[in-house]
Amino acid sequence: MQFSHRLLSETVQSGDTVIDATMGNGHDTLFLAELVGTQGMVYSFDIQPLALEKTHALLDQSHKKFPQVNLIEASHDQISKFVTSPIMGAIFNLGYLPGGDKTIITKSTSTISAIQQCLNLIEIGGRVVLVCYYGHPGGREELTRLLEFVSKLDQKEFSCLRYEFINQINNPPILLCIERKK
Ligand SMILES: C[S@@+](CC[C@H](N)C(=O)[O-])C[C@H]1O[C@@H](n2cnc3c(N)ncnc32)[C@H](O)[C@@H]1O
Repeated sequence: MQFSHRLLSETVQSGDTVIDATMGNGHDTLFLAELVGTQGMVYSFDIQPLALEKTHALLDQSHKKFPQVNLIEASHDQISKFVTSPIMGAIFNLGYLPGGDKTIITKSTSTISAIQQCLNLIEIGGRVVLVCYYGHPGGREELTRLLEFVSKLDQKEFSCLRYEFINQINNPPILLCIERKK
């Protein structure tokens, strides 16, 4: 299991509401859908119609029904317009769509706005996981801004951890995990 998924599976349970803020090819959406089950709710966002197509196709491949999944073609900085119930988890897989247009990337201003909207919805014990790829043009700038933002979150309210793969080549992602304490 991917490390980001492990971080979420430690807290998210069947019946919970969760967000995939960067749907892409749908791997995180599929993982979250299995984790929360048909009693839960998954809200997945992407600005590219191609991402919705790819995610639909991935879900269809599994030959299961996923009534709990809502695929939304909108920027994640619109999360609060679509999600009003408390959430137990959210994942951001930052950068560009693998196999797609590499110039369409996540950007720090909208990413930070979306993270803040998730933090406004997150339940005690819930986690927001950020998978930060930074090897592409624009990636470093986004990572720097995110580190600034996350490291200033109130330590009484949130535990913020940074994880790195120190033995992987080719700019492996840095993972940030924000857990609501109270
Ligand atoms: C690294 S990919 C996500 C991979 C995906 N989670 C998966 O499992 O395949 C990043 C995605 O973020 C999307 N994206 C970029 N800006 C966005 C925004 N403002 N709101 C939502 N998605 C955005 C891109 O279109 C791209 O599909």
